[in-house]
Amino acid sequence: ILNFKLIKMDTSVLEKRFEEIYGTKVEHLYFAPGRVNLIGEHIDYNGGRVFPCALSFGTYLAVARRDDRKIAFASMNQTFQVECDQSIFENKPSEWVKYPLGVVKEFSDRGLDPWGFNILYFGDIPNGAGLSSSASIEVVTAFMLNDQLNAGLDVVELVKMSQRAENVFVGMNCGIMDQFAVGMGKKGHAIALDCGTLDYDLIPLNLNGYKLVITNSNKNHDLVTSEYNVRRSQCEQALADINQGLNLKHLCDLSEEELEWVRHLISDETVYRRARHAVSENARVNEAIDVLQKGDLVRFGELMNASHRSLKEDYEVTGVEMDTLAEEGQKLPGVLGSRITGGGFGGCTVSLVKEDSVQEFIEKLAPVYHDKIGLNAEFYVADIGDGVRKIY
Ligand code: GLA
Repeated sequence: ILNFKLIKMDTSVLEKRFEEIYGTKVEHLYFAPGRVNLIGEHIDYNGGRVFPCALSFGTYLAVARRDDRKIAFASMNQTFQVECDQSIFENKPSEWVKYPLGVVKEFSDRGLDPWGFNILYFGDIPNGAGLSSSASIEVVTAFMLNDQLNAGLDVVELVKMSQRAENVFVGMNCGIMDQFAVGMGKKGHAIALDCGTLDYDLIPLNLNGYKLVITNSNKNHDLVTSEYNVRRSQCEQALADINQGLNLKHLCDLSEEELEWVRHLISDETVYRRARHAVSENARVNEAIDVLQKGDLVRFGELMNASHRSLKEDYEVTGVEMDTLAEEGQKLPGVLGSRITGGGFGGCTVSLVKEDSVQEFIEKLAPVYHDKIGLNAEFYVADIGDGVRKIY
């Protein structure tokens, strides 16, 4: 259980499996990473600023052309596989293939011809753990189709199509952060992304003797889609209430002080607390990006802790598992900050830990979590990698 690192994919295993399934050799191989968000949670869909980075782990896609008008999907991580034509859009599958199929539909809706492929995926990030395994499947599929069809779309366009696939086909009303980080990440950098405008800066992650440790709670986050969509509509409600008196595009256009001036326009207390999270989180992100560039990791860690607290108290997306990991983690020596990362209701925390305290962090946190929750946590030292790419 105390694994420091995931096992990096040996692509020959994927190539061999591809031949077993499809009876031909892999023609091309692509890769898209997972992501970890350092700070800025649940504000991408409120026009806020987020600060994610791409991981060196993610999803591989092996593909070869087939000469009919079908598409076949298989995965080394899942048992369900399918061979289909466009009639599948009328009968949406509930299995994992909904992610790549949503992307295929986006291409088809643009008048492109995304048929005639055998595809095999392999993911070396944990599935459904809040590290954007689904966004990495979407973006790697979009990147492959764009390349194979010579469609000439740029990565930001592929990112938007992947988000739309998830919103429309999958029914998860997500923002753009995950797909953007997966598409546009850069080794050794975090992305300061303004989700209102899609302007972004790549900020070097100089952690000076500190490491980012990802802790997987291994709590499945089934609730995430339904609760996520509820949170999103509560934010829309807050904006609609405020806009009785103002004309704002996004909730995160308000400062914390301005939110207090218009507080009386929001009638529901829960809706107000959701808005307070969004507005305060956006301020924390702005400060975090600033202090990181000044090398003030102590303040960066405090902001991570404050982000977790706000997600717990105002946004209510943490739960006892994630609170235990983050709050117990924050108390350990050498830890500057620890918070839940991603959509919530399970998934992972990210912690900023002094390099020579990482071992102790793992050895102390794992039993505390196990005793209280009864689950085994897993630990990965994050390695910040590049965005989506073609391997051959
Ligand atoms: C999920 C969504 C993102 C974002 C995060 C929360 O990962 O896909 O768009 O909203 O939750 O920050």
